[in-house]
Formats: sequence, structure tokens, C-alpha cells
Amino acid sequence: MPHNILVTGGCGYIGSHTVLQLLLGGFRATVVDNLDNSSEIAIQRVKELAGEHGPNLDFHKMDLRDRAALEELFASTKFDAVIHFAGLKAVGESVQKPLLYYDNNLNGTITLLEVMASHGCKKLVFSSSATVYGWPKEVPCTEEFPLCATNPYGRTKLFIEDICRDIYRSDSEWKIILLRYFNPVGAHPSGYIGEDPRGIPNNLMPYVQQVAVGRRPTLTVFGNDYATVDGTGVRDYIHVIDLSDGHIAALNKLDESGIGCEVYNLGTGKGTSVLEMVTAFEKASGKEIPLVMAARRPGDAEIVYASTEKAERELNWKAKYGIEEMCRDQWNWASQNPYGYGSPETSD
Ligand code: NAD
Ligand code: UFG
Repeated sequence: MPHNILVTGGCGYIGSHTVLQLLLGGFRATVVDNLDNSSEIAIQRVKELAGEHGPNLDFHKMDLRDRAALEELFASTKFDAVIHFAGLKAVGESVQKPLLYYDNNLNGTITLLEVMASHGCKKLVFSSSATVYGWPKEVPCTEEFPLCATNPYGRTKLFIEDICRDIYRSDSEWKIILLRYFNPVGAHPSGYIGEDPRGIPNNLMPYVQQVAVGRRPTLTVFGNDYATVDGTGVRDYIHVIDLSDGHIAALNKLDESGIGCEVYNLGTGKGTSVLEMVTAFEKASGKEIPLVMAARRPGDAEIVYASTEKAERELNWKAKYGIEEMCRDQWNWASQNPYGYGSPETSD
């Protein structure tokens, strides 16, 4: 029997791509998602892309905090492991509505962990974030760097990491991998699934793509006075397919004995500035992205990129794609789906 994986938040951006890679890799996947920040169309498209593996995907519209529904699911299905993506992720919104973030992300995770434990499912891969490095004093960021949170969203990631370390200390049957993602961008090369944020995008590439398709007039560049190659902020952009494959590598690692609770960066190890990324996207799309220079965005770090050594060594995983492929696939998705999974009528 193929491994059966529960994927929370599997309708979202990273989740949908990971579910596709799981199916193509011969896993069965059960997705639970409340569709708070996603569309069920993503799941239908993943099924189509998976071809003969499509029937190995099940979807349940469910909020993770609905303990009764989650209990019922675990009572009816045996899961080998859980990949936990479900959570709210908008930094600015988390500052405005901290209790919403603490309730959704922390209570959702605690309910999940309790139900997992009571059904003897103690293998977990969790979506953490490079945000836990705050404003790193140096780069590349290694997994041993000191951790801090600069907003409620980031604090939920730190708390959940600590909760995971604590439950492993209390019960050594748990096997947990915390994956710290850097900046996921791009889309499946088919252009059939991709990122479709609700409202005005907070992140660079979704914004760039909406300028390219004519939904927004200009890109605002937050700060051009950083001590970087061209004054704009530097990040470690990683193709979402590489990131998804990192989850398969983590699942394989969970099959080893004595792994405990481990943390890995998922990045490329390369830093790219905002202007370098925009230029690469202009080249890939043939579209001009008009820019407006503005002040730094409060809370932003100057330069963040990953040390990839630990993941390469212990997960046997390394990102394959560069920014050219990221921009090519982002544009492929954007040009075929200018309104994401929606329509001009449903978009802001
Ligand atoms: P996303 O919003 O596209 O996906 C998250 C999914 O979780 C959505 O489909 C949403 O509807 C669902 N969800 C949220 N709360 C839920 C709940 N209580 N019950 C059930 N479903 C719920 O986000 P994404 O970009 O795919 O991110 C996935 C995970 O990775 C998140 O935990 C996020 O914090 C983390 N992460 C993302 C990034 C990034 O830049 N995209 C970077 C680092 C970490
Ligand atoms: N930027 C702009 N204009 C925009 C949006 C972003 O100039 O409209 C700049 C930012 O100032 C930054 C860079 O583009 O220099 C990247 O910004 P993003 O918002 O795309 O990404 P961040 O690195 O700031 O943060 C993201 C997520 C966090 C997560 C972090 C690390 O929003 O939740 O990546 O994974 F923690």
C-alpha cells in the first residue's frame, strides 16, 4: 500500500504543488482545508495534472479547529504522516488581528497534534519560515542562528516550533521535521496551478505578476537605500516545485530511525535583489514593470538567504531551479490565469 499522507492547507499555494508532487511520487494524499485563502479549483486541477494518480487524492472541506470533524477523519482513515501547511500568513494582517492569528495557527496546530497523538500518528512535517531568523546579523542563515519574532505571524511559527520540540521531549515516539522556507515563487511549469492571493498581494512576485497582466499600474519598491548590490532588499527565492520536492525528501527522512525533532532550511543559498528579480521577470514575460521607489517597509530585513548545507547533507535535497525558471513559470501561470482561479468580477 502506498503511504497515505494527510495534507492540511493542501488547497493553498505551496500545498497544492506539494500534493501534486506527492501523487506523482506514488503517495496517496488526503487534503483538509477550510478554503479560507484558497479555491477548490486548485484541487480539481491537481487531480487532472496527476493523471492516472488523480484518484489517490481526497479532499475534505474542514477547519482544523473542528476537533469532532478531525477525529472522525482520523477514525476512518489511517495516515502514515501529516504535512501541516494550514495557517494564516499575512504579516501585516497579523499585526492588526493578533488574536485571529493565535487562534487559527496555534489552536489549529494544537488540535491537530492532539488528534494525531490519540490515533497513534506521530510523524509530522511542519511549514515554518525564514521569518524566525528576524533580521539576521550575518548570512547565510544556518539552522543554529538565534531565533526571534518581529510580528504575531512570526511568533506563531516560533511557538509551533517550540511546541514540536516539547512534544518530542515528552514522547520520543514523535518524529518531526520543521522546514524553514525562504521565499517560494513560481508555479507548476504547466501554468495550470499557481499562487492566487486574495486581495492586494503582500509579496513581491504576486504583485509583479498582477502589474504584468494589467491589474495594477506600478510596483512599489520598498527601499532603495539598503547596503546591497543596487540598494534594494535581497532574498532567497525558491521555485515552488523545488520546495514541494523538499517535502518528499522530508517524508523519506521520517522513515529513518532516531530522527527526533529536526529543523531544515529550504532555500537556494543565493540572494537576489528586488530589481534583479524584476529585471528577470521582464525578460521572461516581455512586459515592462513600471516602478515607484518608496520608503523601506517597516519590519523588513536587508539581506536574507539560506545556508543549504544541512538539507543537502541530511535530506539529500537541493534546489534545481534558478530565477530564470521561477520567472518563466510565474509568467506562464499569470498569462494563462490573469485572475488566478477567479475572474475579473471576483477579484479586488
Ligand atoms: P496559503 O494561504 O496559500 O495556504 C494555506 C492554506 O491553509 C489555505 O488554503 C487556507 O485556506 C488553509 N487554512 C488556513 N487556516 C486553516 C484552518 N484553520 N483550517 C483549515 N485550513 C486552513 O499559504 P502558502 O503560501 O501555501 O503557505 C503554506 C504554509 O507555509 C503556511 O503555514 C505559511 O505560513 C508557510 N510559509 C509560507 C511562505 C510563503 O511565502 N508563501 C513562507 C514561509 C512559510
Ligand atoms: N517588496 C517590494 N514591493 C512589494 C513587495 C515586496 O519592494 O510590493 C520587497 C520587500 O521589501 C522585500 C522583497 O521585496 O525586500 C521580498 O518581499 P516579500 O514580501 O515577497 O517577502 P519577505 O521576505 O518580506 O517575506 C516573505 C513572507 C514572510 C516569510 C518570509 C520568509 O511574507 O511571511 O518571506 O519566508 F516569513
